[in-house]
Amino acid sequence: MIILKIGGSAFSDKRTGKSFVSLVARNVAKELPKGEKVLIVQGAGFIGHSIASKYGLSKLSNNQNHWALLRYGVEQVSNRIAKALIDNGISPFVMSAQQLFEIKNGKVLVKNLGIVKAYMDNGFIPIIHSDAPLDDRHGISVLSGDNMAAILANRLNAGKLVFGTDTDGLISSSGERIGHISKRNLNEVGIIKREGTIDVSGGMKRKLEQAASTKRGTTVYIIDLRRTGELKKALSGKGAGTLIY
Ligand SMILES: Nc1ncnc2c1ncn2[C@@H]1O[C@H](COP(=O)(O)OP(=O)(O)O)[C@@H](O)[C@H]1O
Ligand SMILES: [Mg+2]
Repeated sequence: MIILKIGGSAFSDKRTGKSFVSLVARNVAKELPKGEKVLIVQGAGFIGHSIASKYGLSKLSNNQNHWALLRYGVEQVSNRIAKALIDNGISPFVMSAQQLFEIKNGKVLVKNLGIVKAYMDNGFIPIIHSDAPLDDRHGISVLSGDNMAAILANRLNAGKLVFGTDTDGLISSSGERIGHISKRNLNEVGIIKREGTIDVSGGMKRKLEQAASTKRGTTVYIIDLRRTGELKKALSGKGAGTLIY
C-alpha cells in the first residue's frame, strides 16, 4: 500500500495563501496506480500554519476558541481536496484523527486501525489531516501530518510513503536534486531557509526525521506534487524527486 502525504506546501503557497488544491487533486487522481490501496495524509498548509503561528498553537495553549478555529480551517481543506478528488473519479473518505490517535505520556498511540483498513478494503481512500488529538498531559496537542504519515506507514506496513511538497525533491548544499539517499544519511542533508515560509511543525528537517523513522521495507519519496507527472514517475521508478531507501 501507498501512504501519500499531500503537504501543505503542495496544496497551498504558504507565503501568499494561493490554493493549488485543484491542480494537486487532479495530479493525484490521475497518477495514483489503480488497484493499489492508498491512504492520504494531509498537512495544515497556509491556513493551518498561519492560524497556529498567529495564536501560538504549536506550543501549549488553553484558548479552545483558537484550537477550534485551527481545526475548522484544516478540516475545510480536507473537504475541498475530497471534492476535487471525487470530481476526478476517485473515492476519498475524510476520517478523523481523534479516533485514530491519542497521546499518552508524550507517546503517540494508534487505535482503531481496523476501521481505516476496512475502508481501504472497501475501495475507499481515507484522508486524515494533521490534527490535535487528546493528550493526557496537555488536553490536546498538535500531531503533524508528517508524523502521522510515518506512524501509519509503520503500522500498516506501507511499501511506499510519498511526501508531496513544492520542491523537486531534496536539494543538496550545491543546489542539485538528490536522486537517491539512504535513511541513515538523511542527517547530512542541509536545510534551506526560505524567507517567509511558515511551518510550525518543523519543516523539512522534521520531515526527514520522520522519513528516517520508517521501517526498512518502506521506500520514502519526496516529490513536487504540483508538477504533473512527477507522482507517476516516482512511483514507477523513473527517477522523479528523491528516493529514500
Ligand atoms: N534541502 C532541502 N531540500 C528541499 N527542500 C528544502 C530543503 N531544506 C528546506 N527545504 C524546504 O522545505 C519545504 C518543504 O517543507 P514544508 O514547508 O514543511 O512542507 P509541507 O508543508 O509539505 O510539510 C520546501 O518548500 C523547501 O523550501
Ligand atoms: Mg511541513
